[in-house]
Amino acid sequence: MIQNRLERHGFGIGGAAGLGPPVGLVVRGGGGACEAAISGYSTRFMIGGMATPQGGIFALGTASHAYLEFDALRPEVADQLIAAVASLREPRTTMGGVNLVAGFRPELWRDAMPDDAPAGLEGFNHDLVGVDDFVMPASQHDAVMWISGSAYDVVFDMAREVIAELKELASVAVETSSWPYRHDRDLTGFIDGTENPTLIDAPSIALVRDGAPGASGSILLLQKWSHDVNAWESLPVGRQEQVIGRKKDDSAELADKPADSHVARTDQDTLGKIFRRNMPYGTVMDHGTMFVGFGSDQRVLMAMLESMAGVRGGVRDALTFYTRPLTGAYYFIPSTDGLRRLSET
Ligand code: HEM
Repeated sequence: MIQNRLERHGFGIGGAAGLGPPVGLVVRGGGGACEAAISGYSTRFMIGGMATPQGGIFALGTASHAYLEFDALRPEVADQLIAAVASLREPRTTMGGVNLVAGFRPELWRDAMPDDAPAGLEGFNHDLVGVDDFVMPASQHDAVMWISGSAYDVVFDMAREVIAELKELASVAVETSSWPYRHDRDLTGFIDGTENPTLIDAPSIALVRDGAPGASGSILLLQKWSHDVNAWESLPVGRQEQVIGRKKDDSAELADKPADSHVARTDQDTLGKIFRRNMPYGTVMDHGTMFVGFGSDQRVLMAMLESMAGVRGGVRDALTFYTRPLTGAYYFIPSTDGLRRLSET
């Protein structure tokens, strides 16, 4: 029922499950191989026998985003909620196309699809307490929908449609609207994503490897960070650069970056690699960064948070004195094949 109604409206899981094109620049693939397509159409078969990831993870360049986090209305409908979300299908038209990335609280997905769940994956179930009483709050919900498109009207319409379709099963716990700021800057004014992998390398970093439980799925850390604009903007640019560890104009890494700088605390050579799709969020009066980080291994994402909080080595990330996490949740983003298998059971 949900599937049919959404298909009529041209909505679905963006990227790889059916006939419609993902919006933006996309690379599909998993494990050692990948297939690149620029605004290309997607295919219904598995690539070289591998499961196909949700293409929206890699669809760069979309101008408007919404993140909807849902809670099941009652524990006993959680299974139905997962099945309903999994039944959403690919857009059928190129006009007004949107990407929809769907994910689930890891424990819920494991209950529904034990053989397609990465071992040990768990929700953000406890606050992360760092040094100086710094806290990253846990705000785990049951499901997430990340909707992105070329403009807010199509994102808005789709978000309303999805909410209406799920209303017997789930309510929206958190809604966040996001948009890119000055091409690739976050609202600190710095370029965000410099050390991201290329779209060719991103699948092997973001996706669970072929053959492992949850293959071609991804682990998403979604964390909303509020910026203390006044405190940040009172800093001279030279001090802001020390906080980030990079130059503000061109993102060049400082040769002598401080140990508490953000890029020192999240150094991927030490902690492992992730794929970030961060977006600014909010209003003129109240805004910040929606941290959207994908990885194949939850331990890397956890280690980065611990490092930022000062749990590893006692040094707290300087950026956390100017930004504050309001939410924190992990979601498993299954492959489209995993979603299809669930929706067919
Ligand atoms: C308010 C929140 C945040 C803001 C504004 C922010 C901003 C930035 C900026 C400006 C950079 C430097 C350029 C780049 O390489 O992208 C950066 C790097 C990075 N950030 Fe963040 N970030 C935030 C939160 C986080 C969180 C929560 C994590 C991890 C869980 C994270 C992980 C990283 C990583 C891995 C890098 C690259 C480090 C390297 O050079 O290897 N960031 N971030």
